[in-house]
Amino acid sequence: MVIKEIISKMTLEEKARLCSGKNVWETEDISRLGIPSIMMADGPHGLRKQYDKSDNLGVNSSIPSTCFPTAATSACSFDRNLLKKMGEAVANECIEHDVDIILGPGVNIKRSPLCGRNFEYFSEDPYLTGELGAAFVSGAQGKGIGVSVKHYCGNNQEKLRNKVSSVIDERALREIYLAGFERIVKEKPYTLMCSYNRLNGEYASENKYLLTDILRDEWGFDGVVVTDWGACNDRVLGLVNGQDLEMPSSFGINDQKIIEAVKNGKLDEGILDRTVERILNLVFKCKNNDKSYSKQDNHLLAKEVADNSIVLLKNEGILPIKDESVGIIGKMAKVPRYQGSGSSRINPVRLENVFDCLTAQNKDFIYADGYLLETDKCINSLLEDAISIAKKVHIPIVFIGLTDSYESEGFDRTHIDIPEAHNRLVEEIAKVNPNVVVVLSGGAPVSMPWIGKVKGLINSYLSGESGAMSIVDILYGKVNPSGKLAETYPVKLQDTPSYSHFPGGNNAVYYAESIYVGYRYYEKKGQEVLFPFGYGLSYTTFDYRDIRLNKTGINDNEILEVSLTVKNTGRYPGAEVCELYVKALNPAVFKPVKELKGFEKVYLEIGEEKTVNIKLDRRAFSYYNVQVKDWVVESGFYEIIVGSSSVSENLTAKVFVHSHKEVPLYYDKEALENYYNLKKDFSVEDFRILYDKPLEPLNVKVKRPYDYNSTIAELSHTLVGKLFVRAVKKQIKKTTTDVLMQRMMLATLMDLPYRTLMSFSGDTFTKDLADGLLLIINRHYIKGLKKLLNKKKMES
Ligand code: BGC
Repeated sequence: MVIKEIISKMTLEEKARLCSGKNVWETEDISRLGIPSIMMADGPHGLRKQYDKSDNLGVNSSIPSTCFPTAATSACSFDRNLLKKMGEAVANECIEHDVDIILGPGVNIKRSPLCGRNFEYFSEDPYLTGELGAAFVSGAQGKGIGVSVKHYCGNNQEKLRNKVSSVIDERALREIYLAGFERIVKEKPYTLMCSYNRLNGEYASENKYLLTDILRDEWGFDGVVVTDWGACNDRVLGLVNGQDLEMPSSFGINDQKIIEAVKNGKLDEGILDRTVERILNLVFKCKNNDKSYSKQDNHLLAKEVADNSIVLLKNEGILPIKDESVGIIGKMAKVPRYQGSGSSRINPVRLENVFDCLTAQNKDFIYADGYLLETDKCINSLLEDAISIAKKVHIPIVFIGLTDSYESEGFDRTHIDIPEAHNRLVEEIAKVNPNVVVVLSGGAPVSMPWIGKVKGLINSYLSGESGAMSIVDILYGKVNPSGKLAETYPVKLQDTPSYSHFPGGNNAVYYAESIYVGYRYYEKKGQEVLFPFGYGLSYTTFDYRDIRLNKTGINDNEILEVSLTVKNTGRYPGAEVCELYVKALNPAVFKPVKELKGFEKVYLEIGEEKTVNIKLDRRAFSYYNVQVKDWVVESGFYEIIVGSSSVSENLTAKVFVHSHKEVPLYYDKEALENYYNLKKDFSVEDFRILYDKPLEPLNVKVKRPYDYNSTIAELSHTLVGKLFVRAVKKQIKKTTTDVLMQRMMLATLMDLPYRTLMSFSGDTFTKDLADGLLLIINRHYIKGLKKLLNKKKMES
């Protein structure tokens, strides 16, 4: 049966039913019409398939699967092929376990290093994000497994993620926060996941501008828009504005709302049919795919990703280790930090650690714990053991970083420090041995007060289940590091662009820094950083020469072809990332100093050279013009800068670009002075002028009447709310003994809007119960009790 025919046979009830999940992970099936259900599962740096389909965040209740390095790590590979291979490998595991859609990649931009989920995201740069996300999608979908590109859009913090309004000016939205999604949509992802938050006042799950105007009308997306789990606010409005599938199940509540809206003429059935058609297209596409699974050793592929992603940040002639004596210091060498917490947490197939890898390779070393993982405090006896080991060896290698409790979905960090015991360990060891090498773990930038006192620094990020093998190979020179930072490491938190405006108030967060995210900010401001974007060392050296442009002047609808030669001039084979930045020489609109617009990773044997070709299209020279609502090129000279990081200009060339559509300057240069010169912190006043619409208040007073969008934290100001939270806390403790998981669950719960409880607590928290409690909370005791009694009656 063709899809249109199926739709013509469906009842209104069946159509409504198809629009929300059957349980937490599957879509509804309708057997009378031969409609199967499809299965979704988290990831994306591996497959997280829960054993129990009604379970969301059970602990270790997912099947074992290969845990690849998380996106924060794999982004440092700057390697599209590798991301594609990773997408294929994850898809193979999905095929093996009957999963149709993997919920990823996560492509939100790292606005602040504090965002608790940054380890799941690629970069502060939208071009890099888009290229790598697209590669992953093409890999996974090439195997017939769908993806869900997430979280669309403006979800750049965990704090109040279910409710907060991300207030972003249109230019920043287009150039920074949407550009990655825009690139990936070209790969035709099967689905896209809308985020929990509001964007400029409207929930992303029902935001016409995001879902209809941009995603569907402008980018031509014809896949399915899935809500993040529990992100559906107004189901009918969502449908009208472009949301398709509500996940997980709303246990019939929203089906009913759709049915009523059609019956009373508030929802055109044609709109519902359009959504049903998209969902059916998806379901049949998934079920008909040729899922030819080729068994491969994903554990080794995970290592390959880590080999290519780990970043060597400092090396004063100390690495690689030859035959010097070494001390391995730090519990993380035995118990690695290899992924983050929350819905992306994978149950790894085989977890390696450095201690065992070294032992297996018969390496001679002595070991000390240095600290405990359970506390941040320094334990003197452990510190003393570590110091005595450091005195005995030529090179003490210290394993430190962010422990599990620092990074998770559900909450943000409040500072960028690693545990005190770790910092102290490095400082004290450096006092007794000048050859300290630090191996750092963690999914986001940290401060490094000891950086001047160590000779070597390897940033292993969160390198997945086989990462320890890569670390050992890099330490001993078997693998030549080639990762480059996909984000800037600031000296201190106060230096970060969003410092004064993160995480905002209880109602909104102002993205006052606008387009100045990451290196776009630091460079323009002349702000010193710890390690710049795109930075990473190698054991070999590369020589760049012969940059050539196919033309010295182009029209903006022509392609500029850039070529250059790069040669391995050192003593190790290795890979180099050639990064290409475009710099407008005399822009009239405010712009970052330069922006990444191309990159290529090349592998070179000793003495080998290769020509690198990079093509630049119109977009590489454009900015988003808010007045004409289009991408516009300013006529003028542009510099093409190619280098091994954002701060090394190995090669430069100049091109004149003629714009086919000159647009008069619409910015009031004086009023927007600060966006031109970044002399002061961005104030709310600066932002108000740029945003050019009334700003919603940062904070609103929390008071009665509470509604379905009141958070649990807000409701806990009332007696019933307090009792409720107490009961849930008990329940959380029963669900898991893992303290971190408890913290994440509690943080998530407190920020949840009341309405989402119905999706997450199965059919126990029914509409009558929810309505009844809310009435009581709002002091309508009699009406509330009546509702509760009604529920009791229905049950008996
Ligand atoms: C997360 C998503 C995830 C979903 C399903 C949500 O809380 O934001 O990234 O895919 O849960 O677990």
